[in-house]
Amino acid sequence: MRIIIVEDYEEMSRKSAKVVSERLRRKPDLVLGLPTGSTPVGMYQQLIKAHKEKGLDFSRVRSFNLDEYWGLSPDHPQSYHYFMWHNFFNHINIKPENVYIPRGEAENAETFCNWYEHKIKEEGGIDLQVLGIGRDGHIGFNEPGSSLGSRTRIKTLTEETREDNSRFFEKKEDVPYCAITMGIGTIFEAKECLLLASGDNKAEAVQKCIEGPVSTETTASLLQLHSKLIIIVDEEAAKNLKSKDYYKHTQRMAEKLQAEPR
Ligand code: PGA
Repeated sequence: MRIIIVEDYEEMSRKSAKVVSERLRRKPDLVLGLPTGSTPVGMYQQLIKAHKEKGLDFSRVRSFNLDEYWGLSPDHPQSYHYFMWHNFFNHINIKPENVYIPRGEAENAETFCNWYEHKIKEEGGIDLQVLGIGRDGHIGFNEPGSSLGSRTRIKTLTEETREDNSRFFEKKEDVPYCAITMGIGTIFEAKECLLLASGDNKAEAVQKCIEGPVSTETTASLLQLHSKLIIIVDEEAAKNLKSKDYYKHTQRMAEKLQAEPR
């Protein structure tokens, strides 16, 4: 687990975009797992900039989104389809046929979820899964109590999550009660995970995710068992970490070793 504590949202966005760019330059047909929400918007802006100014090429990238509200059509302004095209895909050269986002209006949810899992495998599995974290410690929409082995399925949202996400809707009653989400088991199979968090409202979830017990109470905590995990958090989101100074020291050492390889 590599924990990188940065100053603020901007630095988190720049550093996370750098990780994605590096992986993409190394593997032009990268399979990305992508999140929505406020957290990754800055990273998407940095990646768009890298595409426009430095020719970062997404033409062979395949991407799978983590989740989608159940019941919303792809053209609904609050759907994650809309979010992804508006905030990212419309501004880079990804091929529309290489973009996979769960269908909030799938006729048969179970069939769709099985197909989604199958498609991820068919494309070779996710190389890099980018994640935000909810205040309740969720990744994707895997709310507390989700099985740590869960797969893509419909999940009922907690009231806290509906409340948090109501800022994107006209009123809270409009926030869907359910979502299709990749499961914790699905996410865990990604070859590498990159978790981002910014702001003090995430501090408790970040502390539990990194230092708490692995538990369904904080589904992000399963990531502690992942062999290739980078966590980039800003100072505010890191404020409850008990071993914060040590993580910073580790980071300084890693930077030094990279600069002066032995
Ligand atoms: P946020 O959501 O990025 O909008 O804070 C994160 C999440 O709920 O996973």
